[in-house]
Amino acid sequence: MVLITFDLALVLLVGAAAAAYFIFASFVFGAGYEPTPRAAVEKMLRFAEVGPSDTVYDLGAGTGAIVFRAARIYRARVVGVEVEPIRVGILRLRRRLGPFADRIAIHWGDFFHLDYRSATVVTAFLWPGAMTRLRPKLEAELPAGARVVSHCHRIPGWTATAYDRPTDVYLYRWPEARAPPSETARPTGGS
Ligand SMILES: C[S@@+](CC[C@H](N)C(=O)[O-])C[C@H]1O[C@@H](n2cnc3c(N)ncnc32)[C@H](O)[C@@H]1O
Repeated sequence: MVLITFDLALVLLVGAAAAAYFIFASFVFGAGYEPTPRAAVEKMLRFAEVGPSDTVYDLGAGTGAIVFRAARIYRARVVGVEVEPIRVGILRLRRRLGPFADRIAIHWGDFFHLDYRSATVVTAFLWPGAMTRLRPKLEAELPAGARVVSHCHRIPGWTATAYDRPTDVYLYRWPEARAPPSETARPTGGS
């Protein structure tokens, strides 16, 4: 009985520590963590027509929902950028244990400090504020022809080429994304 109580206390303690770290990391590193749903990952990679000749940058790679699928199924080169160290450890472990490690780079750091001139595709599932801050950087560095796909949040001031309502995914093409809405908007998916 004493042992069960001790076990329960230990489980509660570990749970509380994990929750506290999650909240702490959310504030310190600027975002919480939620894996991109599989349907949204698929839509993002298909919308962006990702293929073997692409270099995909996943901004805020989390534990790799987008990174590993883009490399394994779509054969792209992928750079996963993540700021939170435990997630970086998980990403590196998954990279080491899985196939196509040579196509995957894991970068521990802040995606606002990265250079996007070699990106052909950018994927993001971030807060609205991050999308606003990213816009001038993407405009300055993305090569013509690059695609940006975002789950949940639009890029303010840009016009989406397409939007999939069921998965809440926006597709932008650079530099066409700067055109007025009437020229490029093409919603897809359900009502
Ligand atoms: C909603 S999760 C998305 C996870 C991932 N893209 C996926 O498909 O599962 C957002 C991630 O962005 C990371 N993040 C937030 N701000 C960041 C920054 N400035 N630089 C790098 N990573 C960041 C967070 O740590 C978190 O893991």
